[in-house]
Amino acid sequence: HLSELQEDDSSLLWKETFKQFVDIKANGPSSIGADLCLHGFSHVYGLPEHADSLQLRDTRDDEPYRLYNLDVFAYDLYSRFGLYGSVPLLVAHKLDRTLGVFWQNASETFVNIRYSPSDQQDEQVPLIQRRWREPQTDVHWLSESGVIDCVVLLGPSPQQLFSQYAQLTGYQTLPPLFALGYHQSRWNYKDEADVRAVDSGFDRHDIPYDVMWLDIDHTDGKRYFTWDPVCFPEPARLQLHLEKKNRKLVVISDPHFKADPDWSLYREARDGGHFVKDREGQLYVGSCWPGESCYLDFSRPDTRAWYSRCFALDKYKGSTPSLFLWNDMNEPSVFSGPEQTMPKDAVHYGGWEHRELHNLYGFYQHMATVDGLITRSGGSERPFVLSRSFFAGSQRLGAVWTGDNVATWEYLKISIPMLLSLSVTGVGFCGADVGGFFKDPDPELLVRWYQAAALQPFFRGHSACVSKRREPWLFGEEVTAAIRTVIRQRYQLLPYWYTLFHRAHTSGLPPIRPLWVEFPRERSTFSVDNQHMIGGALLACPVTDPGVQEVKVLLPGSDEIWFDVQSAEMHKGGGTLSLPVTLDTVPVFQRGGSVICRSAGSSHCSADLQLLPLSITVALDPQGAADGELYLDDGHSFNYLHRKAFCLRRFNMLSGRLLCRAASEEGAFDCDTVVHSVTILGMKSKPSAVTVHQSGSEDTSAEFQYMETCCRLTVSSLSLRVVTDWEIQIL
Ligand code: GLC
Repeated sequence: HLSELQEDDSSLLWKETFKQFVDIKANGPSSIGADLCLHGFSHVYGLPEHADSLQLRDTRDDEPYRLYNLDVFAYDLYSRFGLYGSVPLLVAHKLDRTLGVFWQNASETFVNIRYSPSDQQDEQVPLIQRRWREPQTDVHWLSESGVIDCVVLLGPSPQQLFSQYAQLTGYQTLPPLFALGYHQSRWNYKDEADVRAVDSGFDRHDIPYDVMWLDIDHTDGKRYFTWDPVCFPEPARLQLHLEKKNRKLVVISDPHFKADPDWSLYREARDGGHFVKDREGQLYVGSCWPGESCYLDFSRPDTRAWYSRCFALDKYKGSTPSLFLWNDMNEPSVFSGPEQTMPKDAVHYGGWEHRELHNLYGFYQHMATVDGLITRSGGSERPFVLSRSFFAGSQRLGAVWTGDNVATWEYLKISIPMLLSLSVTGVGFCGADVGGFFKDPDPELLVRWYQAAALQPFFRGHSACVSKRREPWLFGEEVTAAIRTVIRQRYQLLPYWYTLFHRAHTSGLPPIRPLWVEFPRERSTFSVDNQHMIGGALLACPVTDPGVQEVKVLLPGSDEIWFDVQSAEMHKGGGTLSLPVTLDTVPVFQRGGSVICRSAGSSHCSADLQLLPLSITVALDPQGAADGELYLDDGHSFNYLHRKAFCLRRFNMLSGRLLCRAASEEGAFDCDTVVHSVTILGMKSKPSAVTVHQSGSEDTSAEFQYMETCCRLTVSSLSLRVVTDWEIQIL
């Protein structure tokens, strides 16, 4: 309850002391809680962000999962402690149902989990005494304030659950294509010459990439929206230089403003009442990168509108349409505050205390930045904004990353369950700093990190100012070649990634998924968190240990077949494969029954993809069938939405016929992209001929090669426009 202090109330509960900090509770002590019992469930997931396993742990002998957005540098691993963002969604799964519990509350929240195994499974109980009792999971929610606003999502399939959750909190935004390419960041690229040198390094080493990033030191004294006059005297010139190569620049913009009355933007914000106040009604001043700082009150609609306008091209001097944004420190991080964040009794718009909305602070900054970029383009261009802090619904805004990790194998390993936890709670565009933010990776770790991250949604190399430089070509030719290979493979797979993002945008299905999402009836998948699916077609098992010569890969489904993407070798599902690996091996398998489109040839950034032909890989299931789709649009504007300028194609193979057809009657997008080869995996015998049929033209026979050893048929030298209907007949 919110209460009013009575004169005779001397209760200490109105005031709490933590270290040197005193929290005065203006509305008295409050809390809400609820216990839920999930019958029949023994696996629960979600509740990011924690550096822990995908399946949530039993907390009875441990700390509860804490949802409280905090800036934790080099965070502890295997911990329930709260990190940068929170999504209060718990996902439960059992053989015949996936269920969600969404607890809409942005104040500090704790969740306790208690698994009770069924007596049937409990080996401690003598067989004779075992009664039939279902397993169950008890979930106890506790929040500091607010009201109980809890939604139970009934699935029953994982796909239905994701769609229900998206209806509630929003769908994944469709990012501009460039954002799915590789990003190169560092705290800090020193000056314009440094940025140009790194940019040309990628060309010199023939490594594709799309975006250069500038951290806090690009500004004039950590005043966001400004540029260091010595190091970046001509920022527009730099952006133009990159833009000529179809590349972009991202700069950081944090929520704290240097408390500097000589800075016009600070004065504007102060005079407009846009800063958070302390409990006495004075400007709240905390310290962050610039020293003494004030914090924008993004919960105020007019502050968000004001902040959005700061991104207008005429207001943000030195910015151009190819400049995109990065919101950091938005938990918010306050070096001088309790647990390095804002005191709970700071006051926001409408008199609300910070405790009520803490976990929403970063979300609102992200929202205002996104609005700023959309408005800047007159509503025509899709924005790209990365945020460190997030809440339920951040998927509508852009990308998030897992903050300040460390260059060790353990942090590489944990990135997979951390990103899967985000994915099952709707935040599909997520990644971890490649190589580890803090400390220095050895070359093997760096290569393995690139290999894993190239298979994750947001793919950015980033490192701390105290870490050594680590551009991909600084470790000798072998390392450069290994990194080049995986970045190129990422670019070749972009048509597939983009299609997955379109799916997430329209159906809520996350681009990367735990195995159980695709194999909900296979108990063996329920706890797997060192492997993941990329869409429904690819299974990835990145190598996350040093010096290994073999990895064990679970290939689910006893009636499934899988094809090793590197060797085309076929494996039966329903067991664990021991796969020999070298430093070049990236274990990825295509599921029988799927079709994947790749871009063929090499590119220097994602914009080249529109010019390159496609190659299609059809992996047959045991019945000789396969299905897949491809989404296409201009890659950057909102025309797909407002003018329906897109197309969704479907590839379907059955009884030796591969059809390319429209997957949806909606939308029209004209492009010249052609399919130049089709590879069919799992072809049991060599065909006598292959013919191609295109509407309006004569049937023609096609060139093909058959490799009996791996049952692979390649139909080559094709030139089939992907937006027209055609079919290939294998005779
Ligand atoms: C924070 C961010 C990190 C960034 C640094 C300087 O630690 O997490 O990515 O480089 O601040 O801005």
